[in-house]
Amino acid sequence: MVVKIGLLGFGTVAKGLPFLLKENQPKIRQLAGLDIEIGKVLVRSQEKADALRSQGHDYDFVTSMDAILADETIKIVVELMGRIEPAKSYISQALKAGKHVVSANKDLIACHGQELIQLAQQHQVMFAYEAAVAGGIPILRTLSESLMADKVTRILGVLNGTSNYMLTKMVEENWTYEKALASAQALGYAESDPKNDVEGIDAAYKLAILSQFGFGMTIRIDQIHHQGITVIRPEDVAIAKELGYVIKLIGDLQETQSGIWAEVVPSLVPIKHPLAGVNDVMNAVLVESVGVGQSMYYGPGAGQNPTATSVLADLMHISRNLLEGQAVKPFNAYQRPCRLAKAEEILSAYYVSVVVLDASAQLAQLADLFEAHNACFDQVLEGQSDQETLLITVITKAITRQQMAKIQSAIDDSNAFALTNIFKVLGESDEN
Ligand code: HSE
Repeated sequence: MVVKIGLLGFGTVAKGLPFLLKENQPKIRQLAGLDIEIGKVLVRSQEKADALRSQGHDYDFVTSMDAILADETIKIVVELMGRIEPAKSYISQALKAGKHVVSANKDLIACHGQELIQLAQQHQVMFAYEAAVAGGIPILRTLSESLMADKVTRILGVLNGTSNYMLTKMVEENWTYEKALASAQALGYAESDPKNDVEGIDAAYKLAILSQFGFGMTIRIDQIHHQGITVIRPEDVAIAKELGYVIKLIGDLQETQSGIWAEVVPSLVPIKHPLAGVNDVMNAVLVESVGVGQSMYYGPGAGQNPTATSVLADLMHISRNLLEGQAVKPFNAYQRPCRLAKAEEILSAYYVSVVVLDASAQLAQLADLFEAHNACFDQVLEGQSDQETLLITVITKAITRQQMAKIQSAIDDSNAFALTNIFKVLGESDEN
């Protein structure tokens, strides 16, 4: 038996599907119970279809969604176009037409997922999106199935392959930001607009989806604070290293007494921390839960075959369900009302780096400023910046957001110091 799929878009990930369908066919047939075939491929123009055919892609290319909706033999639509529109309209139309949908579109699912999930339920079809978070890492089914018995308390992750690849090349091989970005784009890791990768927005979308699976809460994207890698200076990287840390863009989702807290920010990770060794395009999701304790899921977060493998797994789950005639199940059944944590419950240590403006103002004066807000240091490093001004960098003990905000204002108001960067710190280093 054969199940036919309609592909929306034929970019990097979609082009990985034919290879996997051929290479893994015996296993797919045995486990899905049938063969999966590409029935039609929607592309934006006839010229695009002609260009793809001339490159050897021999598919039934169509330029109208209606052609896919009207094809009774197509049971599953696979959306790999990205962005919000027209992907959202096409997925809605497919669900209403009684077709199951697989998508890798984190922007869309993070922003409009609930609407599409409800539509799928209304029309008794499946909507799965394993590939939307961390590319080739099967983290969503791990949270919804393998960890269904456990209570998740925190999820920390390196969730964007492009920015992690760029940071790794900039730190380890002294590449410029521009060279690293161009290379990530050439390798097919980056989004069509790489701003989402480097500004932490793509990782925030993934964190929003992880929040649904790990905590059963739908957090809005504007409730996730995000900062990108563009603020990290070579000096910060060098200072962090001297203090025993690496800087990574980390997504952090935690539940406190009052609710959940979500942010994506550059963070200092102690070199012995499990996330510190996650380099290049690799992603990792570190789950803390009551029963298992800590478990980490590591793998390629972007790229053709890894992402296509997650898409194919969704296709196989749906195909098997079709074959066995089972009742349609939601991809994620865990749902609770979303409550946001109070900022005063969120404690962290911080890396604070200042330039000394007034030569008579030294470390003791900075220490007084911190002590005025009941904060003190664990580590201190003094040195010259590239501009030969004196730099003082401290790692604070754990303090609240409000304390850090007040210290930041006090530094901004002082004539003695100018703030260069503040980053969150994820635990103590061995240099401490
Ligand atoms: N641009 C994304 C990344 C692709 O680099 O992680 C996978 O979501």
